[in-house]
Amino acid sequence: MCGIVGYVGRRPALPILLDGLRRLEYRGYDSAGVAVLHDGRLTVARAKGKIVALEPRLHGVSPTGTTGIGHTRWATHGAPSEANAHPHLDCTGGLAVVHNGIIENYLELKDALLLKGHRFLSETDTEVISHLLEDAYDGSLEVAVRQVATGLRGSFALAVTCVREPGLVVGVRRGSPLVVGLSSGESFLASDIPAILNYTRDTYILDDGEVAVVTPDAVRVLTIDGRPVLKPVFHVTWAPEHAERGGYPHFMLKEIHEQPRALADTLAGRIERGIRLDELDLGPDAAKALDRVFLTACGTAYHAALVGKHLLERLARVPAEVDVASEFRYRDPLVRPGDLAILVSQSGETADTLEALRECRRRGARTLAITNVMGSSVAREADTALYTRAGPEIAVASTKAYTTQILVLTLLALKLAELRGRLEPASLSAYVGALTRLPDMARSVLDANDAATRELAAAWTERDDVFFIGRGLDHALALEGQLKLKEISYIHAEAYPAGELKHGTLALVVEGVPVIALATQVALREKMASNITEVKARGATVVGVVREGDRDIARHCDHLLTVPPVEGLLVPVLAAIPLQLLAYHAAVARGCDVDKPRNLAKSVTVE
Ligand code: G6P
Repeated sequence: MCGIVGYVGRRPALPILLDGLRRLEYRGYDSAGVAVLHDGRLTVARAKGKIVALEPRLHGVSPTGTTGIGHTRWATHGAPSEANAHPHLDCTGGLAVVHNGIIENYLELKDALLLKGHRFLSETDTEVISHLLEDAYDGSLEVAVRQVATGLRGSFALAVTCVREPGLVVGVRRGSPLVVGLSSGESFLASDIPAILNYTRDTYILDDGEVAVVTPDAVRVLTIDGRPVLKPVFHVTWAPEHAERGGYPHFMLKEIHEQPRALADTLAGRIERGIRLDELDLGPDAAKALDRVFLTACGTAYHAALVGKHLLERLARVPAEVDVASEFRYRDPLVRPGDLAILVSQSGETADTLEALRECRRRGARTLAITNVMGSSVAREADTALYTRAGPEIAVASTKAYTTQILVLTLLALKLAELRGRLEPASLSAYVGALTRLPDMARSVLDANDAATRELAAAWTERDDVFFIGRGLDHALALEGQLKLKEISYIHAEAYPAGELKHGTLALVVEGVPVIALATQVALREKMASNITEVKARGATVVGVVREGDRDIARHCDHLLTVPPVEGLLVPVLAAIPLQLLAYHAAVARGCDVDKPRNLAKSVTVE
């Protein structure tokens, strides 16, 4: 949902801004722009499209100034166009703003500014900010930013620079993420850590309502009403190479192949004669008293939460409800003190998930975040954070974050089962043994399915529809399989509980339509076999996702993708992998931009 960067230092700002924007492109990529302070004026370049479209605009004008800001956009107000691209300037052209978020009261602010004679050049909500700053400026950009921020409604992370105070960028956040990078003789601002990882790993993670006054040699943090904030330095453990493609054609493929490592890292130190989740501040009494769990998330994380529901109910025997975060708050949820609310979010910044968390807190629930980004808003606002250790996920389509989310939910379900006395020691140690083998099994699933998925996907270049069916956990997985396929290959895909297909959608299954049948759960095999024969009878081409050696299901299928015959509740982590490969190869075969699918963004920080 838009990425912003800022730089002040002694080096030319432009290459650093462009590098940062390239790394933030996953947040939005319909237009981009930069403003660099150079020779007492702002040099501004903007372009519709991805960062590559911006670069030619800078040929011949490349400013060497050492202060600047940049932006990559995911349009909310105003179509993707050069005029609507950020930075936005005031009427004098001496002050520039980049913004991530939505200003909800921009129309009333704009009307007042128009009456005062301000000229607007875009249809964005953001442009009001530069004009408000123009009016508020009285010799101190910091004071002007604080004053203007007070009157803005909605969500924002801003970076602002002006010709009257060279060597200064002021940032402020409320509702959208903003990180300050600290280094010797230079400082950075960015929406997310990968943008600055090449330059520093020492950061301040700004909280809502905080302002950063950023100069090359010092960064001051204060509240919007001007009180100084003593900020601890947050040292990032990710290495710069984690955010590189590392020889793979796409980040998505790299991230799919990183899963064995990501799973091993996520398990590290958490298995020791049982499950060890030190972060979880829950004793046996509290665990036994737990009678309801609410899981809330968006997108792929929601699909991980659906798997989590099955695991929590089956292992810990605690009823679990799952909601899409954007719906949760509006159904007046029956959350009460004593309930456990689990928020699943790769980025930890998804606006709807964050609001769902706040709603649960207001209602007195104990809150637990499962997230991949240390110091993210969801992690900081929840009572407890359990981290997936997937490393930075750059591709818009989530892969390693999803499987590590499922793994953390599995650990949590097992731990709760243990605390609640719902699992025999022998069963627990069998699970623990299987968990330690998961990373290697993930490696073998990658090897076993790469060629087969490439071949299958090659035959789908002209396909309009693909259906996914499964029961129980396999249905939860099917939902993720269809999302992966449609978001990057643009093939229409739908997932159904296998028994439900005949209540309507079977009408769409005609000769040659691919049906991906997930049949990894032993107890449901016979029912799945019947559902597979139903679609075969209508001419479907069936791709079975089955346990190795499962001949009973295999004989009904036209093609097979396989996973090792591990305990059923642990299958989702493995069975997700062939589905990811299938989607990836389909997108490549159709010539799609795998890492940057149209209209999407990785981090959705608007509601
Ligand atoms: C976007 C991304 C998805 C992601 C979802 C939730 O839609 O494209 O990949 O699953 O947001 O993001 P979160 O960071 O909360 O997991």
